[in-house]
Amino acid sequence: MNVTLRSTPCLRCVRIYTSAAALGTAELRLPLHSKTMKRYITSTPQQTKIKEFFPPPETPRIKETDSSWVHPIYTEQQMRDVTIAHRQAKNWADWIALGTVRMLRWGMDTVTGYRHPPEGTEAALTPRFAMTEKKWLTRFIFLESIAGVPGMVGGMLRHLRSLRKMRRDNGWIETLLEEAYNERMHLLTFLKLAEPGWFMRLSVLGAQGVFFNAFFFSYLFSPRICHRFVGYLEEEAVITYTRAINELEAGRLPEWETLEAPQIAITYWQMPEGQRSMRDLLLYIRADEAKHREVNHTLSNLDQAQDPNPYASKYKDPSKLHPTKAIDVLKPTGWERKDVM
Ligand SMILES: [Fe+2]
Ligand SMILES: [Fe+2]
Repeated sequence: MNVTLRSTPCLRCVRIYTSAAALGTAELRLPLHSKTMKRYITSTPQQTKIKEFFPPPETPRIKETDSSWVHPIYTEQQMRDVTIAHRQAKNWADWIALGTVRMLRWGMDTVTGYRHPPEGTEAALTPRFAMTEKKWLTRFIFLESIAGVPGMVGGMLRHLRSLRKMRRDNGWIETLLEEAYNERMHLLTFLKLAEPGWFMRLSVLGAQGVFFNAFFFSYLFSPRICHRFVGYLEEEAVITYTRAINELEAGRLPEWETLEAPQIAITYWQMPEGQRSMRDLLLYIRADEAKHREVNHTLSNLDQAQDPNPYASKYKDPSKLHPTKAIDVLKPTGWERKDVM
């Protein structure tokens, strides 16, 4: 049996060929993918491309690898109830956090040529500023690659402090690391839809180098300001995803109207049948951002050294409304310390 291979195949391709050859097919015309093949950023919904972006490593013994964090279930109504919100700055620390977020947002929008129109005027944007599917994905990928940093830095520093001071952390570390994991899942999901080119990769590298170090030293100086900063950053994330959802529903992103969420997303969010479209995916991600907004505003309100994590605690009176990991209870501006401790 002669099998013609047209380029260097990966292990998976070899298996396809081998099994087809065993069935007796003389020459195979299956589309081969090569590990060197490049796909620059594109929002074209092509299932074959999407499927093979970072495929799981092929090993003879391992079937699949699970994550230890299971995402809470969100209902469609809960996700629809997510709203844009803003926590008023109340003191100088809040103003530092808010000012930094506003400055970063202005810088990012200016550099990338993004203009956020007042609600209802999106259709009037000139073509230069109109958002396409490709432009959205580029923006999401860049922002999510940054969004995964704070939780990891906060979790790492609290972990080290617990080791150093030889005392309990009271549950903060897990929530912070889980937030970082959740943001990374946002990134991996978008990467199933578009592959960044070298310019984007370089931008992410540079931005991570600067942002990681800036956040690391800021967190050493004032974790309270850092959590407020993330709270305000997440307010912006909710605004951004709300606009994308509105644009999609208004018919301005036609390629996404029939696009299905990638398998990685279906598995991670446990998306039910009939609720696996691109629109649903954006609703899930926006709801996550709304939860991060609440969590970080709440953490900023607490005593950083003493207070237990309200999202990992059992309450003396469970019938009273209290913080939860899911979005059944959502407090956009965060919980005040007196209401949770
Ligand atoms: Fe995110
Ligand atoms: Fe986020």
